[in-house]
Amino acid sequence: MKRVYIDTMGCQMNKSDTERMLGMLSHLDYEETKDPEKADLLMINTCSIRQLSEDKAFSAVGTWGKMKKEGKKNIKIGFCGCVAQQKAEEIFKRAPYVDFVLGTHKIYSLPEIIKRINNGEKVCECTETHSTEDDKAKDFKINRVKGVNAWISITEGCNNFCTYCIVPYTRGRERSRLPEIIMKEAQDALNSGYKEITLLGQNVDSYGKDFKDRNYRLADLLRELNGLEGKFRIRFVTSYPTDITDELIDTAVELDKVCEYFHIPMQSGSTPVLKAMNRRYTRDEYAKIVAKIRDKVPDVTITSDFIAGFPGETEEQFEETLTAVDEFELDYCNVAAYSPREKTVAAKWTDKFIPEDVKDERFQRLNKKIQENCLKSNKKYVGREMEVLVESFYEHKGKMINSGKTRNFKTVHIPCDKDLTGQFVNVKITEAKTWYVKGTI
Ligand code: SAH
Ligand code: SF4
Ligand code: F3S
Repeated sequence: MKRVYIDTMGCQMNKSDTERMLGMLSHLDYEETKDPEKADLLMINTCSIRQLSEDKAFSAVGTWGKMKKEGKKNIKIGFCGCVAQQKAEEIFKRAPYVDFVLGTHKIYSLPEIIKRINNGEKVCECTETHSTEDDKAKDFKINRVKGVNAWISITEGCNNFCTYCIVPYTRGRERSRLPEIIMKEAQDALNSGYKEITLLGQNVDSYGKDFKDRNYRLADLLRELNGLEGKFRIRFVTSYPTDITDELIDTAVELDKVCEYFHIPMQSGSTPVLKAMNRRYTRDEYAKIVAKIRDKVPDVTITSDFIAGFPGETEEQFEETLTAVDEFELDYCNVAAYSPREKTVAAKWTDKFIPEDVKDERFQRLNKKIQENCLKSNKKYVGREMEVLVESFYEHKGKMINSGKTRNFKTVHIPCDKDLTGQFVNVKITEAKTWYVKGTI
């Protein structure tokens, strides 16, 4: 047995790719180690969404390069993921100790690459494809992270070209994975004991638009998944505001396993900023979608992503983001300060860049607003009884805690000495904190 260590950065999409790569490596007799010192193969699965994520990737492989130089000559180093896709051969110039560079399009060529690097070659595989690799997916196992949640990617890539975003360049055009492969991966995950399936895509609502041989969309996939046997939950992320159809909302209400949770990134509360971002909706249109969902789906949680300090954003426009968080009762939002990315349209608007200190100050204010809203929303559930799927069991300040999620994505801490991981329990909510609620069984 050889050992592989993989450092995974970025979003769930990368985590899902890492699970697939570990699966492929298991066919070559590599087992995972959590200790880089013990590894024969060191891999990094990188994220390119902000400059900081890219810098972190190079600094991590730098440490491994040193290890190699200072004695461990036989270790192999792989640079994968979104930064790899974008920079390709350039990686070898910046980090000459890297043995292979593997982009996001052809992760299924990993076994072939491993054979080649073990013969002393240096390999770069970053060519773009316009189809999914589902025909190869069925040949390999997936080594999922242990726990109760299984992530299954349903679309790859993105066609939207928001002016700030690098994803269309690192992940390519949108491709939907075949329902039969997704259903097989879901059934395998359920057979292995996973209790929740999260369908992943940059815009899950676009699922199936590119199928030429069938009319099959996200609502159809949800219906088919909901029909699988056993008690489990289904979630899907991420939704593009104006692509959420009435049919999808109705399906989510009708199907018992689909949870009351939507992640709908708004990015900014100001219509002119949204236009500059090339988002295809106004503040009012976003408002209408949220109102429709809240009207049809009781107790729904809606979360969002926002960018603070987009080029040209005025103080008044930023304040519209603050009021949007309140008005649309958005919970647990991710906030990022704008970071210019190579190739993207907005990165060229240098004369409109917002100074770092102003971006940072807006970032802090927006986070504070979101924290206040989380607490307010959590308080609504005190006294209620809710179903919790327990995800972990750990010690905190001398007490044992079971931590899990409600259907509507609230984190619940349940003090209890018995490990209930993987179980569905009914919990009475007793106290609200900012990031979680407390409850008793
Ligand atoms: N497909 C999703 C988002 C994927 S990227 C959507 O359309 O909403 C995840 C998040 O990273 C985005 O929602 C955005 O808020 C943030 N992001 C993307 N590019 C960024 C940049 N250049 N600077 C700061 N944040 C960025
Ligand atoms: Fe990026 Fe926009 Fe595509 Fe989301 S929809 S991945 S923000 S380009
Ligand atoms: Fe995800 Fe980062 Fe790539 S957010 S798609 S890993 S650029």
